[in-house]
Amino acid sequence: MHNLKTCFCGITFPTPLILASGIVHTPAAFMALASQKGVGGITWKSISLKPRAGHPLPVVTPYSAGFINSVGLKNPGVKQAVKEIREVKKHIKIPLLASIVAFQMSEFPQLATEIAKAAPDLIELNLSCPNVDDEIGRPFSTDPLLSALAVQEVKRVVKHIPVIAKLTPNVVDIKEIAKAVENAGADAISAINTVGPGLLIDAKTRKAKLGNKIGGISGPSIKPLALRCVWDIAKTVKIPILGMGGVNNGEDALEMMMAGATLVGIGSAVFGKGFGIFDQINQQMLDLMKIYEIASFASIKLSIK
Ligand code: SIN
Repeated sequence: MHNLKTCFCGITFPTPLILASGIVHTPAAFMALASQKGVGGITWKSISLKPRAGHPLPVVTPYSAGFINSVGLKNPGVKQAVKEIREVKKHIKIPLLASIVAFQMSEFPQLATEIAKAAPDLIELNLSCPNVDDEIGRPFSTDPLLSALAVQEVKRVVKHIPVIAKLTPNVVDIKEIAKAVENAGADAISAINTVGPGLLIDAKTRKAKLGNKIGGISGPSIKPLALRCVWDIAKTVKIPILGMGGVNNGEDALEMMMAGATLVGIGSAVFGKGFGIFDQINQQMLDLMKIYEIASFASIKLSIK
């Protein structure tokens, strides 16, 4: 039997499968998910300095090749989130990643200082939400200098918690952004956030299917893009990668590792298949490792021929 334990930024995860940010929202749901077999870690919904009401409903809708969402970074603000994370951490045994999102560069130090009070195991910087351009302009991670600055601002105030930069695929050269955040001191990279934004239309009513009209695309349709981005990043940087985008089964997860990921994020598949998806994917990976004669996760990392 292969060992699923995975070390990432010096932290041991019981399995390499991590809940991606934005899928689960309430403390009760985080605790329920964290107690499920096979979950390696959980990522909190992105937290901003102030509470945000988010976008009008509907905020997520499925389509034939995945999902489109525009939640609009709905969250209770960092003060409340710190209380919730502290409470959840008392009840779970797996690492917790806190995702933070800033609307101006100057918010990062305060936000990072506040969230560190909840003692998350890692902090993920959401530099890549495609759904709030109207409010904050293009995501920081479309620009190497802004991406680097965001990492530096957080690393300046948070010394003892590893910092992960979450990147957007919506750039000409993701390698350039990856190198910039690594040079700025990021401990890891997560990739990719959702793609787009895209638009879905109800032909009968001629209405956009999302309340915000446009939103980020996720699910099986983005897997090839996610794999290519993770592969590009892995060839460029030495820091580890949390790879995500369209992972639905064990084969997808192994492919993500072959592209260069150490941990694998599971997002839309949870909507489609429920909390049992983590155990299923782990079992599928273990079965496939026997069939494909894969000795360990480490042995397939960045192994594309
Ligand atoms: C949202 O809340 O709109 C999605 C967050 C994200 O894609 O980063």
